[in-house]
Amino acid sequence: MTDTVGSVNLEADSDRTIVTASDVVREYRMSGVPVRALRGVSLSVAEREFIAVMGPSGSGKSTLLHLLGGVDVATSGRVVFLGQDFGRMSVEARARLRLRKVGLVFQRFHLLPMLTALENVELPIAALGVRRAERRDRAASLLARVGLDDRLGHRPGELSGGQRQRVAIARALANEPAVLLADEPTGELDRATSHGVLELFQRLNSEGTTIVVATHDPELAAGASRHVEVVDGRIGS
Ligand SMILES: Nc1ncnc2c1ncn2[C@@H]1O[C@H](COP(=O)(O)OP(=O)(O)OP(=O)(O)O)[C@@H](O)[C@H]1O
Ligand SMILES: [Mg+2]
Repeated sequence: MTDTVGSVNLEADSDRTIVTASDVVREYRMSGVPVRALRGVSLSVAEREFIAVMGPSGSGKSTLLHLLGGVDVATSGRVVFLGQDFGRMSVEARARLRLRKVGLVFQRFHLLPMLTALENVELPIAALGVRRAERRDRAASLLARVGLDDRLGHRPGELSGGQRQRVAIARALANEPAVLLADEPTGELDRATSHGVLELFQRLNSEGTTIVVATHDPELAAGASRHVEVVDGRIGS
């Protein structure tokens, strides 16, 4: 099923499931006291979808994105990514799958401050053993794609917030992931720059990239083809 008018020709493709969360609970312990960030969430992401996860601050959006991307594991319930159950994998196997298939843009970027924009984007490509010349080319063309071809040699501290965000997006795309998970990608950006990120996501999505964004930004959400509301650790309607 698809709720996007005019996507009939894509239906065969969009049947492929990238990741499914089933009745997922994530409990943190704070000084022995359990905090339930997610209280039984089920969500399936099909190939080529563009999903906006919305909801109040503290409702569990980042937690959900981290579980979908395998940077964190559920306390109970299952997250199956391209047929593999994250909960049954070793930490190393999960990291390997993530490196190849998950593009994650963290809420706070996590760029390495001592590396240039180009080197930050090269890093995950290097982790797959790609040679220097090839990975430089790939990183440079990704940065060009997000409009930063004139900032390759800048370190994060020498870039604006919006430019840092775009480096983080380029890095997340470095190994052609099956899904781009972006946590508040326009959270710290002005309107014009946010609009640029939305356009970039729509272009990537039309080229076939599956996208899940957690966002408070109504314009970004309006660009998505499906909306999921997380309220107090549960998916609302
Ligand atoms: N590492 C952690 N340890 C303990 N509690 C945590 C941790 N991370 C998140 N939480 C708690 O889990 C709940 C969900 O947090 P989460 O970051 O997923 O919310 P969010 O919807 O992304 O919020 P925001 O919109 O502010 O980014 C919050 O109550 C938060 O305090
Ligand atoms: Mg968050």
